Amino acid sequence: MSTKALILVGGSQRGTRFRPLSLDQPKPLFDVAGHPIIWHCLTALTKIEVKEVFLIGYYDESVFRDFIRDSSKEFPQFTIKYLREYEPLGTAGGLYHFRDVILKGSPKRFFVLNADVCCSFPLKEMLQIADDREAEAVILGTRVSNEAASNFGCIVSDPTTKRVLHYVEKPESHISNLINCGVYLFGSSIIFKIRKAMEIKADRRASDPLYDPSEEDGSENVLRLEQDILGPLAEEKNFYVYETRDFWRQIKTAGSAVPANALYLQKAYQSGAEDLAAASTTIIPPVYIHPTATVDPTAKLGPNVSIGPRAHVGAGARVKDSIVLEDAEIKHDACVLYSIVGWNARIGAWARVEGTPISVNQHSTTVLKNGVKVQSVTILAKDCVVHDEIRVQNCVCLPYKELKKDVVNEVIM
Ligand code: GTP
Repeated sequence: MSTKALILVGGSQRGTRFRPLSLDQPKPLFDVAGHPIIWHCLTALTKIEVKEVFLIGYYDESVFRDFIRDSSKEFPQFTIKYLREYEPLGTAGGLYHFRDVILKGSPKRFFVLNADVCCSFPLKEMLQIADDREAEAVILGTRVSNEAASNFGCIVSDPTTKRVLHYVEKPESHISNLINCGVYLFGSSIIFKIRKAMEIKADRRASDPLYDPSEEDGSENVLRLEQDILGPLAEEKNFYVYETRDFWRQIKTAGSAVPANALYLQKAYQSGAEDLAAASTTIIPPVYIHPTATVDPTAKLGPNVSIGPRAHVGAGARVKDSIVLEDAEIKHDACVLYSIVGWNARIGAWARVEGTPISVNQHSTTVLKNGVKVQSVTILAKDCVVHDEIRVQNCVCLPYKELKKDVVNEVIM
């Protein structure tokens, strides 16, 4: 039975933690493992029977035009449309606003995917559990460390039946280390629950003399899936969790694109993807090189490296665990480790640009250096220039900056 899918892409006021990279490109279109973040969601949707995909956000209409044109050719099995919210409506407000489009053709159920997650999207397994349990909702969950859990939505579930018993978004005290992955399968009836939640909110506003609108996150039409819908849904009987043991992480900060790049590349390598570079004495897989990029045969790349369109990597250069974006240049004998090299950035000969290695499973992208929290990944934004023989370590460098002396643990503005 065919299902619809909605991808929540947010808008320009969101994705602030992805700065400085989101200054030049909307986060959902940022290239990870050689493809825009939301391309990975679409690829996952090809594995199940989906006929219509909607991107829901409040970016300008033009932002996704080229992506939708190209993806419609690449994924002819479904139509892709952008639905624009007239203002940020929250993670559930848009579902309610576009309810007629979503419910058109009376689909039995639909997927909702947060655009900013990197995972293997076990959608088939979620459909299976929905069928087996006749579930109204299925949420994808994963286990994280007890310390990390309170940064996410936490799920308490029945260990045998997998029924969700309790859901709390970012709880103040520990309730569970099973967390919300931002991937959901809902029966169409969820739209009525969302309407009910809207009405309850409106009633509260009208009847509570102490109600303070400044406490609201956004306008009165905002509704949050995590806080306003999932909690009450857990009080009912047919909300289930599918717990993945495969990889999962969020793409929130700009630095988190580096571990996400590694995870998607590793997955592509394991599944024998043909667009990855073949292993050799100078290529340590997985490595993605765009067909228009030029890499000197003496440069050594990998593992976990993506080289973007028209980028150039010179002789004797070393690149590891990094993303090199469109038109960037890495001159001969330069070294780039745990870093993002922005669009059209230039790294001089014998320069060293590096971050600090972190595990792909670590959910924070900061590290402590001399007692100070710094970004683990070094980020050079668009058009940055690093002069020959300069060392840049654990730095975030805003667009158009020129580095002529060594810098460590700094944000260069
Ligand atoms: P926190 O994780 O709570 O800090 O917030 P966040 O804004 O980083 O992400 P959130 O978990 O709220 O968002 C989950 C997904 O929904 C992301 O892909 C966002 O881009 C998207 N999103 C957030 N707010 C909106 C909204 O108002 N409208 C739409 N369409 N998408 C949204």
